[in-house]
Amino acid sequence: MKPHGKNNNNQGSIIHGSTSKILLIVTLTLITLTLIPFHKLPPSLSTTTTTHSGDPTTVSPPPTHPATAVISVDDNHHKCDVFSGEWVPNPNAPYYHNATCWAIHEHQNCEKYGRPDSDYMKWRWKPDECDLQIFNPYQFLEIVRDKRLGFVGDSVGRNQMQSLICMLSRVEYPIDVSTTKDDNFKRWYYVSYNFTLATFWSPFLIKFNEPDTDGPTHTGLYNLYLDEIDEAWTNHIDEFNYLILNGGHWFSRPSFYYENHQVVGCKYCQKDNITDYPMTFGYRKALRTALNGIINRKGFKGVTILRTFAPMHFEGGDWNKGGNCVRKKPFRSNEIRLEGSNLELYVAQMEEFKWAEGKAKENGLKFRLMDITQPMLLRPDGHPSRYGHWPEENVTLYNDCVHWCLPGPIDTWSDFLLHMLKMEGRRSAEEKKWQDRRLYLAIDLVDVEVRLVDLVPVVENSGEEGRATVG
Ligand SMILES: *[C@@H]1O[C@H](CO)[C@@H](O)[C@H](O)[C@H]1NC(C)=O
Ligand SMILES: *[C@@H]1O[C@H](CO)[C@@H](O)[C@H](O)[C@H]1NC(C)=O
Ligand SMILES: *[C@@H]1O[C@H](CO)[C@@H](O)[C@H](O)[C@H]1NC(C)=O
Ligand SMILES: *[C@@H]1O[C@H](CO)[C@@H](O)[C@H](O)[C@H]1NC(C)=O
Repeated sequence: MKPHGKNNNNQGSIIHGSTSKILLIVTLTLITLTLIPFHKLPPSLSTTTTTHSGDPTTVSPPPTHPATAVISVDDNHHKCDVFSGEWVPNPNAPYYHNATCWAIHEHQNCEKYGRPDSDYMKWRWKPDECDLQIFNPYQFLEIVRDKRLGFVGDSVGRNQMQSLICMLSRVEYPIDVSTTKDDNFKRWYYVSYNFTLATFWSPFLIKFNEPDTDGPTHTGLYNLYLDEIDEAWTNHIDEFNYLILNGGHWFSRPSFYYENHQVVGCKYCQKDNITDYPMTFGYRKALRTALNGIINRKGFKGVTILRTFAPMHFEGGDWNKGGNCVRKKPFRSNEIRLEGSNLELYVAQMEEFKWAEGKAKENGLKFRLMDITQPMLLRPDGHPSRYGHWPEENVTLYNDCVHWCLPGPIDTWSDFLLHMLKMEGRRSAEEKKWQDRRLYLAIDLVDVEVRLVDLVPVVENSGEEGRATVG
């Protein structure tokens, strides 16, 4: 009995030991493999290879190994703040024109309405500590294959979506698969990539209505339900992989603020018995309600990107008092500062985002920031101004210093978006790496400790080599 049992035990422990060893080696191989693609990609597979030109026919062919290209972001990019930098000349831009892209909204079709200069199209964003790749539509579409991306917010969000459609138009135009006739809720489908792009109109991001289309400033008077989500979008996000939220500008409009169905204040409603609050009062609460709405939506598993707000550039007066934007080139970063209500809105966004990001993480959700405020602050030259309509036309926003000409600086948001999606790929790989580590720690710890001593130099070496390659 005893010898037999002992024998069995021995055998058991030998098998056990070698299983651990195999698992360990497999795990370390996995870790090494997940590390290698970032550092040791052959140049032909790296993300830097696409050549760009204004001529749509000279776009490089799709990468042959798109899956590899997806996560080839190097360490330098990992640490670099891509939103801090300067605009530098880019003679290759733009990458489409009004004649090649039908998605341009009338009021942003500056070429059509005779804007005489074109230098405003010819800049790219250069982060201080790294390079931001110019948008590669093939790579983007590979990354979003079989996925759904939704824009939620106001007309600047729509402006961004139309810019993205135009940037992708060198590869494919989407078909209209909208489920309603309401132009504020469009769905576009890229047949070859099974990719859906949608836009949800929600200028305040929360439940609202407009009881008076005129109001004290003739821009409407709104009821904002600060503690109620806007089901026009929250009910439809479950199947979305990415949401890009934006909002801010509309909170300057006269509004009544409701909480718990009661009026708790207003923004410029001109009523003696109602407290008047600054726009950030409503904005903070609305943002919190909207972000909470995403966190509490059990079926939603996607990545939420808050696109920070893009400053307006009225000079010489407000939008309705003769203000205009007539500059012809970008500012340098030392020439202008975020201040006043722009700064207040930005701070409100950052604080609410930070709060929600932490809460989302606890719930296993990913919240990211597309922090374009500073880059766009530097672009007073990119708005339609009076080239968003015919001179004799009677439009509310005669000089538009809010939206962005297409083509124009807003096209750079697609560069940022692609960069963020690539980083997302890298983050997922890293999270997988940590999962692998945890799996490996779950193996018999005593055995592992012994093997670890043997194997540590191997891991270190591959790390060192990686760093050396990046330089
Ligand atoms: C494009 O812009 C040109 C002027 O550059 C204009 O003549 C033409 O009508 C515009 N086309 C469209 C489709 O907007
Ligand atoms: C298309 O993508 C959706 C997810 O957006 C997925 O459920 C579906 O299976 C995909 N269809 C094909 C044919 O791959
Ligand atoms: C303010 O006064 C008006 C009448 O002057 C009244 O109808 C309204 O309910 C009052 N609002 C609040 C919040 O007290
Ligand atoms: C423009 O429209 C507004 C309101 O619709 C009107 O009051 C104004 O007189 C119009 N101006 C011109 C020049 O037609």
